[in-house]
Amino acid sequence: MTAPRPLIAGNWKMNGLAASLAEAKAVAAGLGATPARVAICPPATLIHRMSEALAGTAVLVGGQDGHAEPDGAFTGDVAAEQLADAGAVLVIVGHSERRAGYRETDALVAAKTRAALRAGLEPIVCVGETLAQRKAGEALGVVTGQVRGSLPAELAGQAFSVAYEPVWAIGTGLTPTTPEIEEVHRAIRATLVALFGDAGRAVPILYGGSVKPANAAEILHAAEVGGALVGGASLKAADFLGIIRAV
Ligand code: 13P
Repeated sequence: MTAPRPLIAGNWKMNGLAASLAEAKAVAAGLGATPARVAICPPATLIHRMSEALAGTAVLVGGQDGHAEPDGAFTGDVAAEQLADAGAVLVIVGHSERRAGYRETDALVAAKTRAALRAGLEPIVCVGETLAQRKAGEALGVVTGQVRGSLPAELAGQAFSVAYEPVWAIGTGLTPTTPEIEEVHRAIRATLVALFGDAGRAVPILYGGSVKPANAAEILHAAEVGGALVGGASLKAADFLGIIRAV
């Protein structure tokens, strides 16, 4: 089985105005030849304009969250179908900021993942332990439990990735050691194989949490790391390109 291309995805979170499209264009212009697939997930307000600005380039556009229902009375929410309609081809689901801030459960994340598939979007399903869980020795149990609970059976045969983002490493400048990353990624791999058989070996497992140009090479070359989900360092084209070049 050939290894999938690494995926480097930028999660802009609640950052970005129309002027920020220049950064996305600079990423596309500076990409050059890379073995990686590259995506930017801007806020929903920018998806349409960014997909137009990046048309014809190799940079993919994704959403940061999609509602489980295709339409209806859900004020303020955005359906997976609407993300696709605006030009997204991927979507992040189950980010820890949504699990914590909006009480998203594994079951809801699984429903949103099903919705992504229904809309033709490639899901990036996020998992990760808190600092308290890591200190209590629960990291592997928490993460593999999230993988089992958040990945619906419908993913069999579909393109998707899993992102391991330790909550305590997000936006803090802290990262796990390389052996710690590899330990969790190996546990996720074993769970993917248990769930999806041999196909589980080809699912990219991204690492996320304080990835920057200075640490990207070591992280991206660690065992079972198939790419990165990048927050703060994806907002500036120069930093994001520095990470992409480390693949
Ligand atoms: P930072 O790269 O800013 O730590 O954020 C990581 C993240 O949450 C990406 O989804």
